[in-house]
Amino acid sequence: MIDIAAREAAVLWPTYLRPQVEFVRGEGVRLWDAHGREYLDFLGGIAVVAAGHAHPKVVAAVAGQLATLGHTSNLYFTGPQVDLAERLVDRFGGGAKVFLSNSGAEANEAAIKVARRWAKANRGERATGVVAAEGGFHGRTLATLAATGKPSIREPFEPLPPGFSHVPFGDASALAAAIGQDTAAVMLEPIQGEAGLRVPPDGYLAAAREITAGAGVLLIIDEIQAGMGRTGRFFGHQHTGIRPDVVTMAKALGSGYPIGATIAVDEVASAIRPGDHGSTFGGNPVACAAAMATLDVIEPLLEGHVDRVGRRLGDGLRELRDRIGSPGAELRGAGLWYALDLGERAPASSTEVALAALSRGLVLNPVTETSLRLAPPLVIEEADIEEGLLRLAGALQEVGACP
Ligand SMILES: Cc1ncc(COP(=O)(O)O)c(C=O)c1O
Repeated sequence: MIDIAAREAAVLWPTYLRPQVEFVRGEGVRLWDAHGREYLDFLGGIAVVAAGHAHPKVVAAVAGQLATLGHTSNLYFTGPQVDLAERLVDRFGGGAKVFLSNSGAEANEAAIKVARRWAKANRGERATGVVAAEGGFHGRTLATLAATGKPSIREPFEPLPPGFSHVPFGDASALAAAIGQDTAAVMLEPIQGEAGLRVPPDGYLAAAREITAGAGVLLIIDEIQAGMGRTGRFFGHQHTGIRPDVVTMAKALGSGYPIGATIAVDEVASAIRPGDHGSTFGGNPVACAAAMATLDVIEPLLEGHVDRVGRRLGDGLRELRDRIGSPGAELRGAGLWYALDLGERAPASSTEVALAALSRGLVLNPVTETSLRLAPPLVIEEADIEEGLLRLAGALQEVGACP
């Protein structure tokens, strides 16, 4: 066992099962461990480090803002907060307002609160329900856990806030049937990240938009993992042309600096009154500076780079999928965001492959028992993709998952 593991076990909650590695430094798409070993980071801190580790623009923005004004509370105006909100509203297509928080769960909590506030005023006091999807993941706070469609992580913490129900992801008729007088909103991911990158059938999000608009309920799209350029568009839902009522963001928004954002169209945002919601740290000048520097880095990458290098990654992973050849072996995803599923009867688990990859200097994660998730920094270049694919092929061979 490495030194830090025993020290950690003595003082930290046993929340995470970690492999035996301690990272001490990162630069671009590379990480270094405490022994000076170099790794290619194909996970990017779980779809977070979009600009790459220690990007000079993000570092300078954070350091500069912290040296100028680190925090004043939300009792006063601060410029970076408004600058960032203007940019996010612009990215959303205008006609909306933003609430800034510190994480994905908080961004979704704010979405649920604004939806309930709007629906009680517009659909009646009982309209508080949220319909979400089986397999979906929306966070670990009690309300976002209630929205999460994974009974195994919900049940230990019951009773959860009431009003949440779940329908099969990708089934528009089931969604339509689940909406009633008591519904305030439908909450969906464009692609279900934690479920192993489950991509819905073509037309599902458009159908969800039509159904929710027809029923007069809100459509909340959780872009926390899918957004910020991960799929090659700024928001995952932008592949479909729909306009949701509420969009949530976090993860890559600060490229590692914690920040969450909830965008609501003007009519919905106007349901909020002063004092309804708030946060000590949310929209703090340093977090906003980190987010703006991140946007400066990732926006140009959406003009072809993510599509181009993402295609190379997808092609390489498809070749590996074909070599795996076990029944159910599958590649799912888009842009620079993939899950390679080893199939049900694969000779090794995704955890075994991820550990073998780690020992070969490649970081990725076993997102489900059979699938490996890849979400590298968006700044990655083709040469690093080739190298990572070679290391992954070596790991798959080592555990007997491919010839
Ligand atoms: C789609 C989605 N929503 C919400 C969350 C929760 O975000 P956080 O861990 O920042 O609270 C996650 C985190 O994995 C996520 O993938």
